[in-house]
Amino acid sequence: MSALLRPVLLLLLLLGLSSASVCRFQIPPHDQVAQVARFIAHHCNWASMATISTHKPVVGQPFSNVFSFSDGPPGTSSGVPYMYLTRMEISVQDLEVNPEASLSMSLAQTDYCRQQGFDPQSPLCAHIILSGSVIQVNGTEADFAKKALFSRHPEMIDWPTDHDWFFAKFNITQVWVLDYFGGIKTVTPEDYFQAPPHRKY
Ligand SMILES: *[C@@H]1O[C@H](CO)[C@@H](O)[C@H](O)[C@H]1NC(C)=O
Ligand SMILES: *[C@@H]1O[C@H](CO)[C@@H](O)[C@H](O)[C@H]1NC(C)=O
Repeated sequence: MSALLRPVLLLLLLLGLSSASVCRFQIPPHDQVAQVARFIAHHCNWASMATISTHKPVVGQPFSNVFSFSDGPPGTSSGVPYMYLTRMEISVQDLEVNPEASLSMSLAQTDYCRQQGFDPQSPLCAHIILSGSVIQVNGTEADFAKKALFSRHPEMIDWPTDHDWFFAKFNITQVWVLDYFGGIKTVTPEDYFQAPPHRKY
């Protein structure tokens, strides 16, 4: 780290410590990378999902769009981002051609970064990027997806039935974590799913 950055980092740490007590929740320590990722995936309610576009004039180019998701009802984190989708939707049409996608979520969506004074692009405003693909879920997994989504996005219950909504999950192949200085860190799906979603006291 450069000598220039060190005092800035110290200041940020001091600010973080002094305001930690007013924060609604405590994120896991930044070196518990898998745990941080699970924490973010449970506390965010929406994500930006990039697909490879099939629509003119941007065929073949990345296309990022907002989706509501849930990894479980509050306090019941599965780590799996579930979504409620319709084939009428532009990005879902991309997924029908190529189900590979990237899902990005950030604590900037919560009060945390604002309260701590962290800019959304700062790694201290912890955010993750999931690589993988989107697949439809059925049976008992769809039952869980419904509970996970409808408890946190109650408006979904009234979305128009003629849109043929279905439940899907983001099948994670790689987790990328930005929660501190020093560059991005990666977590395997195995480590991600084994990590507890909350800070241990
Ligand atoms: C769920 O059902 C759909 C439609 O029948 C099917 O295309 C899909 O492969 C199934 N998904 C899984 C994970 O079994
Ligand atoms: C889901 O992800 C796993 C890796 O976590 C991968 O081995 C598997 O092929 C993926 N399944 C689908 C249907 O993409």
